[in-house]
Amino acid sequence: MTPTVVGVGLACLDVLIRLGDMPTWETGGRISAFRFDGGGPVGTAMVAVQKLGIEAGYVGSAGNDRVADLKMSFLTEYSVDVSHVVRRDSPESQVVIVYVDQETGERTFAGLRNLGMAMLAPEELDRDYVLSADFLHLDGFHYEAALQAARWMQEVGKTVIFDGGKTSAKSLPPQMTDAIGLIDVLICGEGFAQALSGKQDLYEAGEAILDMGPRIVVQTLGAEGSVTVTRDERFHTPAFPVNVIDTTGAGDVFHGAYIVGLHHGWPLAQVAQFATAVSAIKCTGLGGRGPIPSYDQVIAFLAERDIYLEE
Ligand SMILES: Nc1ncnc2c1ncn2[C@@H]1O[C@H](COP(=O)(O)OP(=O)(O)O)[C@@H](O)[C@H]1O
Ligand SMILES: [Mg+2]
Repeated sequence: MTPTVVGVGLACLDVLIRLGDMPTWETGGRISAFRFDGGGPVGTAMVAVQKLGIEAGYVGSAGNDRVADLKMSFLTEYSVDVSHVVRRDSPESQVVIVYVDQETGERTFAGLRNLGMAMLAPEELDRDYVLSADFLHLDGFHYEAALQAARWMQEVGKTVIFDGGKTSAKSLPPQMTDAIGLIDVLICGEGFAQALSGKQDLYEAGEAILDMGPRIVVQTLGAEGSVTVTRDERFHTPAFPVNVIDTTGAGDVFHGAYIVGLHHGWPLAQVAQFATAVSAIKCTGLGGRGPIPSYDQVIAFLAERDIYLEE
């Protein structure tokens, strides 16, 4: 299989726990729902790409135990190509406990401290496989390998998308400033563009980042939607009001859907609106991947709101 989109980054097993109050050491607690699902920015974005009808391949690492097998099943059940995942002879370490607030659907994470064995080395990448794709999606995990893959894509003029995540830091590590010149499309969560550019205003931050390399900068703002900045346009895309159960993976799914929109060659306002609809539907269920809609479900969701895509 030749994927249209290849992702090099994190895929983990999410253990989701939906609750009202965190247990304490003194009293323990009760939970209202529990689920296993796949997680990780790139892993979940690749599932979104595949569910939306475009071939996706995931590149990363996995362990050799039944936890690893379960994690892999959350990629293979959606037909994401995992032929280039490197299996390590060690237990799966990419596991995240996700606590979901049953009132707001917002979440917080706790992951394992030591992921050292998991890191992919650049030599473990298959250059031909990476270059067989039109789009490369990265999240900063497997950093050295990801940088190598991005250089290959840049040499041949293909598109590199980066998930900047969300941050409360005032500045970013030097690796990020090294990598920004290799990125064509930066899609990031709250705080990232400000930390990278040193500018507080969302649009000014986006414009400063255009000078560093990317040609499209999208900042996602949770229930406030997103803002897009390019040399030619700047606009806000509001989120769709939905019954929010769990926001886990909303940003990851937004990235996958955005790449699908770029692949279709749509105007960027439509790309952003499509990604916003996919993320909104995702938020109506528990887990990062299970609730991701099919392409037809997104079209129906938009039609219910009198929105029709230009093909
Ligand atoms: N509560 C929500 N209601 C509707 N849409 C949401 C909600 N939270 C997120 N989204 C959609 O998902 C996109 C990404 O979410 P965001 O919260 O910015 O990322 P992250 O998953 O990194 O927290 C938003 O731009 C928005 O379109
Ligand atoms: Mg969010």
